[in-house]
Amino acid sequence: MLKGHTALVTGSTQGIGLAVVRGLAQAGADVIIHGIEPPGQGEGIAAEIAAQGGVKAAYVYADLARAEEAEGLVAAATRALRAPDILVNNAGIQYTCPVESFPLDRWNAIIAVNLTAAFLTMKAALPAMRQQGWGRVVNIASVHGLVASVNKAAYLAAKHGLVGMSKGVALESARQGITVNCICPGWTDTPIIQPQIDARAAHFGGDRQAGIRDLLSEKQPNLTLLPPERIGDAAVFLCSDAAAGITGVALPIDGGWTAQ
Ligand SMILES: NC(=O)c1ccc[n+]([C@@H]2O[C@H](COP(=O)([O-])OP(=O)(O)OC[C@H]3O[C@@H](n4cnc5c(N)ncnc54)[C@H](O)[C@@H]3O)[C@@H](O)[C@H]2O)c1
Repeated sequence: MLKGHTALVTGSTQGIGLAVVRGLAQAGADVIIHGIEPPGQGEGIAAEIAAQGGVKAAYVYADLARAEEAEGLVAAATRALRAPDILVNNAGIQYTCPVESFPLDRWNAIIAVNLTAAFLTMKAALPAMRQQGWGRVVNIASVHGLVASVNKAAYLAAKHGLVGMSKGVALESARQGITVNCICPGWTDTPIIQPQIDARAAHFGGDRQAGIRDLLSEKQPNLTLLPPERIGDAAVFLCSDAAAGITGVALPIDGGWTAQ
């Protein structure tokens, strides 16, 4: 389905990013895995995905908290494999704290990784997509790009910003065969939410399952942590020809969270 295409997925050595990259490789795309792991470790993941999917795979390191590294990522990916015509901005970080005590350095890091990096990678990747007359950008936002929760000022600003920016870039690209969409996951079973699960579990004597139930019952009506593969499946669909008419959307995959 995606044979002949090349995908760059940021933050793809674990969690949702790894599920997305596996899904794209299974659909036939060559893939550039990105992360902050040492090259040896990242290249190991790339080799495994290449063998499983029968595709080409490469690994590129870049710390997206540093604008110059985010700015250079697409060029590095192009050197490693080929200019990507599928870009998935997935890398993200979280920090929870009331706004009055939210540290400025945490704010700056979240805006840099969750928002500015997506701006810089889109800026760098779009020219080759325009030239080709085909491109797919999938930005992994969050339900917190659509609705709010307490203690997440920076994450909310970044994810709402990502949804808004993606709509604008979708309009700028609509006549060139390029789609730009967001996926807005609810609670998904990955490392990023472990500190929030641990904090809830502490109210139940350290019972992790009770902590998860408590977290889900507050917001996610299906009471089920999403497997990262569900987000990967949706990303593959948004990259397919079947989704060619879908652009500028922010698609919740959230067990009913934003229906409330
Ligand atoms: N898990 C959830 O419940 C959930 C819900 C909604 C949205 N999301 C979003 O999904 C995306 C993926 O998160 P995840 O759940 O897989 O968590 P995760 O922590 O497993 O993955 C985050 C990825 O971002 C990368 N990353 C972090 N800091 C980086 C930096 N400075 N430079 C480069 N890469 C960096 C990490 O290496 C990792 O691969 C994030 O944007 C997150 O906000 C997650």
